[in-house]
Amino acid sequence: QGGMIVIFGSINMDLVARVQRIARPGETVLSRRADSFFGGKGANQAVAAARTCRGGSVRVAMAGAVGHDPFGNACLRNLEENGVDIRAVRVTDEPTGCAFITVDALGENAITVASGANMALRSADLPDSLLSKARVLVLQMEVSLSENFEVAARARRAGVKVIWNFAPVPPVKDRSGMAELLEVTDMLVVNEHEALAIAEIAGLSTGSDYLTAAAALARDFGPTCIVTAGAQGAYAVSRDGRQIHASARPIAPVDTTGAGDTFVGVFASGLAEGMEIASAMNWACAAASLSCLTAGAQSGMPLRDALERHLAQS
Ligand code: RIB
Ligand code: NA
Repeated sequence: QGGMIVIFGSINMDLVARVQRIARPGETVLSRRADSFFGGKGANQAVAAARTCRGGSVRVAMAGAVGHDPFGNACLRNLEENGVDIRAVRVTDEPTGCAFITVDALGENAITVASGANMALRSADLPDSLLSKARVLVLQMEVSLSENFEVAARARRAGVKVIWNFAPVPPVKDRSGMAELLEVTDMLVVNEHEALAIAEIAGLSTGSDYLTAAAALARDFGPTCIVTAGAQGAYAVSRDGRQIHASARPIAPVDTTGAGDTFVGVFASGLAEGMEIASAMNWACAAASLSCLTAGAQSGMPLRDALERHLAQS
């Protein structure tokens, strides 16, 4: 019954320092130590999906690029150990992507990504033979925008559903640039800030209400817009104005890094299993909440049985 999920995107090593308060420009703050964690929005989403697909009929494959270096080797091994098919991950001469992350006492973060090999990823790295097997294609915004666009357009032609996480906000300047991207997107996933920023670039005057922004984006450009709103859970707004809400679980977050990626990966696996949007969102919100309880983007992402147990209890 289940299909395949293909993720085209970034793979990073995350170097994380916990701080009382994130440094302001020109300021130095001290942290006890740095830890390294597997990251990158693409890899995070692939791992989140693969963990919830465990034991089911859906498979997860990733197209990405790493360097010939210890970080790259470790990232590849990690994807494999999580059950992600990495035949479309290329080893390049550029260094493996690296994210510099500070996490404050409340679990909030600030991130700088040194893209390295991620910018060498090409649409051609994802062969048609793999793309055509997919039920959903998942994209983010940490690889070349033109390559992302090319893959999205190919997926649409092949009848593969495109879930595109516009994170970080794409570097386009105006309504027509944004329209091009949104028009090849079946489901847009963004957080509150991204929803507002994207609506503004698209020339929509939506004030500061992210749901108004999501509704306007869906109405004007077509994709179903899903906004992840932290403790408020997530909302989906479709072109006809229909709205769905899923609640987040009340938690005391340790590290919110990768919570959005957990949402996207688990949401994609729900859809690939044939779930309705509302159920997939509910799954995804629960998984995202759980992921915040452990340090590191991927460490807290639940396996399928842990997610099911948690849902049965709440
Ligand atoms: O979304 C979180 C991710 O963003 C981190 O893992 C980091 O690698 C950056 O890409
Ligand atoms: Na986490």
